[in-house]
Amino acid sequence: MPSSSPPPSTLTEGVQLYQADPVQLQAELAAGLLAPHASVSPKFFYDRLGSHLFDAITELPEYYPTRTEAAIFRQCLADMAQHLPAQAVWIDLGAGSCAKAARLFGTVNPAAYVPVDISAAYLTQALEPLRREHPDLPMLGVGMDFSAHWALPAEAQGWLADRGLDAAPRCVFYPGSSIGNFGPDDALRLLAESHAVCRAGGKGSGLLIGVDRVKDVGLLEPAYDDALGVTAAFNRNLLLHVNRQLGSDFNPAGWDHVAFFNREASRIEMHLAARRPQTVRWPGGQRGFETGERIHTENSYKWQPAAFADLLQRAGFGQPLHWTDPQGWFSVFWAPA
Ligand code: AVJ
Repeated sequence: MPSSSPPPSTLTEGVQLYQADPVQLQAELAAGLLAPHASVSPKFFYDRLGSHLFDAITELPEYYPTRTEAAIFRQCLADMAQHLPAQAVWIDLGAGSCAKAARLFGTVNPAAYVPVDISAAYLTQALEPLRREHPDLPMLGVGMDFSAHWALPAEAQGWLADRGLDAAPRCVFYPGSSIGNFGPDDALRLLAESHAVCRAGGKGSGLLIGVDRVKDVGLLEPAYDDALGVTAAFNRNLLLHVNRQLGSDFNPAGWDHVAFFNREASRIEMHLAARRPQTVRWPGGQRGFETGERIHTENSYKWQPAAFADLLQRAGFGQPLHWTDPQGWFSVFWAPA
């Protein structure tokens, strides 16, 4: 998939595409579906419709993370900016609509913007108006899956070098608590890989990351099971995406959205539960599901700030700075490389 040995890239309107091998994706999907406890990676949420549904989730009254994080940035940005390097290369992991980073541009004064997202189509679309608003800011979209392994592709490094930015400080920007999709071991690996990306840049480089915190289950669970059913639609849409990738015949109407907080593991879990007995078929395979049998689609880990600060330091970063909201629901860390 990603770039331990980067696959060939095409440069389309300033977006480099690293398409995962479809055969490998199919094998990954089939293996997950055939496991005793069936699972599909949350990366399969993000086809174009899924990215739009996620944007809708961020507007829901129950989904506090996005607006809480935005409030922290509004309240604390002047303070943060004292610690962030100016004229840095901003590398936006899981950039999606690019809206969060774009709101910081006026204050942090980037030298270049490199958004990375698995949904290349969505990224291409998001970059178009942004380029018009910031005609003097060099932007390179990178469409890649960074979940299994993450490094800046050689072509992107070449793009920076062409602009004299190979020694510029780097800010890896990973907002929204997307790190929550990774369990502690994988989170440590992704943070260590981000540390390596920072260390390849100039003095002052670091990681600006948003992390959702452990809190009352009465706040956590509705955020992942909203009254309008948008999160349920987001969860079920994964089946349509899987149908296209795998050639399977999932009927989304045959599946219930399930979301709960697993306190021992400190994570929200999302599943799809079969509403009735059914068999799902795809080229070369099939799987029967009993009523209530589940497909695990997502974990969203919640952290205590001290534990996350410790994780950052184990990943190689220096003593992190920490900002939060008045209720202590969400944390933003600046971790100097
Ligand atoms: C994008 C991973 C941060 O875990 O809160 C939102 C995804 N899933 N509602 C999260 C999500 C269901 C979101 N992240």
